[in-house]
Order: sequence, then structure tokens, then C-alpha cells
Amino acid sequence: RHPFTVNSHGHLEIGGVDAINLANDFGTPLYVYDVSLIRKNARSFVDAFEELGVKAKVAYASKAFSSIAMLQVIQQEGLCLDVVSEGELYTAIEAGFPSERIHMHGNNKSRQELQMAIEQNIGCIVLDNFYEIELLGELLNLQNKEMDVLMRVTPGVNSKTHQYIMTGNEDSKFGFNLKNGQADEAFQLLKKYPSIRFKGLHCHIGSQIFETDRFLSATEILFAELAKWKRNENYTPEVLNLGGGFGIRYTSEEEPIPYEQYVYALVEEVRKQSEEMDIPLPEIWMEPGRAIVGNTGVTLYTIGSMKSIPGIREYISVDGGMTDNLRPALYGAKYEAVVANKADQTPIKEVSVAGKCCESGDMLIWDLPVPEVQTNDVLAVFSTGAYGYSMASHYNRFAKPAVVFVENKKAKLVVKRESYQDVVKNDLSYL
Ligand code: LLP
Repeated sequence: RHPFTVNSHGHLEIGGVDAINLANDFGTPLYVYDVSLIRKNARSFVDAFEELGVKAKVAYASKAFSSIAMLQVIQQEGLCLDVVSEGELYTAIEAGFPSERIHMHGNNKSRQELQMAIEQNIGCIVLDNFYEIELLGELLNLQNKEMDVLMRVTPGVNSKTHQYIMTGNEDSKFGFNLKNGQADEAFQLLKKYPSIRFKGLHCHIGSQIFETDRFLSATEILFAELAKWKRNENYTPEVLNLGGGFGIRYTSEEEPIPYEQYVYALVEEVRKQSEEMDIPLPEIWMEPGRAIVGNTGVTLYTIGSMKSIPGIREYISVDGGMTDNLRPALYGAKYEAVVANKADQTPIKEVSVAGKCCESGDMLIWDLPVPEVQTNDVLAVFSTGAYGYSMASHYNRFAKPAVVFVENKKAKLVVKRESYQDVVKNDLSYL
């Protein structure tokens, strides 16, 4: 069910490397990524478009997990990159990512961020609000430069996911609303800035979505707007960006569909709509984040204290928690795990996995089936590749864990474990 194997010692193997050796060599908590799986996920989107012979761009949403090594792999696979902040853009530049393949998002891009995007000649800015149109127009005029942009719109589609990661509904902080005429107004405003090359529309309906129908409804709504602009303004888009949000498997509750199915369904819908509206087939862009890295990452922890409340529950505590995986505490997200040094043993009981932060809510997994467990066993939590490291914090002054990439049976440290000097490095004395 998770894409990993068990070796003859009964240990979990990640990318052909024994998880217990990884824990011993690099310490815990440790994020481990199977790079061949990252490549496979990335290719499944790209190949599906190629197979259909459709002009497309697949941008990895780097918010899911951004580090220099990660972006190097994404570049090797020929994807584009979606950044949402100066920090993500900076990381991309440090990784040597080709700037023309970078797209920038954000609902409150600062002057400095836009300035940096212009200076770096990035490929596209996804405009989110009126303030930003004026700011970008002004900055481009000042520097006598031009920029490709997309307009982010909210199609008013509910995406059947957690409220915090639902973004395509009408009451959203992101983008221009279609229903109340804001997108029309934005269209008119864009005409005032010849330096802004308006390439088309963007929408992202949410995250961890499993059905294609929501994406199809969003596409239909976007085309209704485009048909109007064609009629009234003789405008036809070159690009249609349908965002990310493709769901992955965390537990047996989720049954993801193969990623190419999204590509097939969307291409078919875009073809159908553009024929009906007599609009030339636009380039189709997508922005998967979680779908590319989510299932490729595993977090290794060492089990420490254990507490049994007879008749109620058994707790086992690990050496990390909400500081390296905020998702259970923030979204009630569920995970599966195995005892990595006993991966061949049959579970005999259930335990609940606690993090070590000073918060009752710092629970990683409730009621996890396990074999007999002991202190110093290694727990491997699956599907932590997306929004784990990227949402890690220093709460309780924890140092951020290391990240290791595994490929072809070799492990390589790609993000160092923070030291306590790192944790206090910006603190200044008051004495
Ligand atoms: N494009 C845009 C404009 C987005 O806002 C997002 C995610 C993506 C693409 C990528 O979505 P993905 O393919 O990864 O689902 N921290 C949350 C997820 C927040 C997603 C925010 N936007 C979580 O851990 O579930």
C-alpha cells in the first residue's frame, strides 16, 4: 500500500536502503525521500501530456517541499516551478533553476517580491488582486520591461476537502471573483498596462482532491468567462492553468486515481470547451505539489517513553512531532506508520503516537496497529513528503531535522540537521 519494501532483516527499506541504517547514520527525526519515486510522479504528469501531444507545462508547487536538492531534481525532470514568496524564489535561484521556467503566486506579493521577479526575468506572474496589477504595471514601466501574467480567478467550486485547504470557493482570499464581475474589472485594468502581457486564466480549487469532476466544473466556468471575453473583447487566451491539488494516499481511507487520469480528463474537457466556444486550444498548465512529493517521503523517529493507561490507551512518544509534521494538529490529518525494525511482524495491539511538544494536541497518530514495541525502536511514518519539512517550526526550540535523499541504493544528506546554534542564531542579547 505504501511504495516501500521490507528486507531480510525485517527492516523497512526506502529506495533500497535499510531505514535503520539511515536512522543510525543520520539520526532521528529524519525525513527520507525516495528520489526515483519523485521522478516517477513528475514524469507521470509530463508523459501524459506528451502522449496526448498537447502543449503543456507542469509546474512543481515548491511550497510542498523546497530545498536546493529537491529543485535540482525537478529541474532534471524538465518541470517548471511554482513559487509563492521571495524565499521560495531565492531557493530556486540558488538551485540554479532556469528563471524562465519559474511562475510566481501569492495573494499579497510585496513590491520587493515583484521587483525580484522582474529582475530575475521569471517566466510568469499569476496576478491575484487589483493592488498587484497596479504595482506590477508601475514597476514594469519604471524598468521598461514586460512580463507574462495569468489572472487567478475563483470559479466558485467547492472542492470537498478540508476547509483550510479549499481555495476555489467564492469566499476566498485568493484571486478575482468571476460571479461579481471582478474578473471583468481586472481585465479592463490590465488593458491600461501594455507592459503586462495577459496570457490567460489560472484557478486552483483546493488541495487533496480525488475526483476529476471538480476540475472539470472549474474548467467549464473558466471557459464561460473566456467566451464572454472573446465576444466582447475579441480576446483569446494562450494559457489555461488549472492549478494543483491532486490527492494522494495517506491511509487506507484514501484511494487516489493515477495522475495521468487527471491529465486525460482535463485535456478532453479543455478540447471540448475550446471547440464549443471556437477558441484555439490553449496551452494547459498544472501545478501539482503534494502529488509529486507526498508519497515519496517517510519520517523516521526514535521511540522514547511509553505510557499505558489501563483500559484506556497506550501512548508511545517519539523524538519529533508537530514541529516536523504540523498536519495532524492543524488539519486532523491521518497517517500510517510501521515500526521500521519490525516491519515484518504482525501487529498485536494499538498504540497512539505522541510528539514531544508541550501540547496535548501534539499527537501524530491515534490507534496505530503495532507489534510489541520498545524504547529505541524506530517508527517510520509514511507519506510525509509534502508539507512536512516545509511547515516545520522551531516550537519549543526544536531544531529542524535533516533531510536525506535515497536513490540507486545510496543515501545522500541534502538538508543538514539544525544545531542549537542555528536555533538561537538571530537572538541578540539584551544585557
Ligand atoms: N497551486 C496553488 C495556487 C496552490 O495554492 C497550491 C497549494 C498548489 C498549487 C499545490 O497544491 P497541491 O498539489 O500540493 O495540493 N498545507 C496544506 C496544503 C496547502 C496547499 C496550499 N496551496 C496541507 O498540508 O495539506
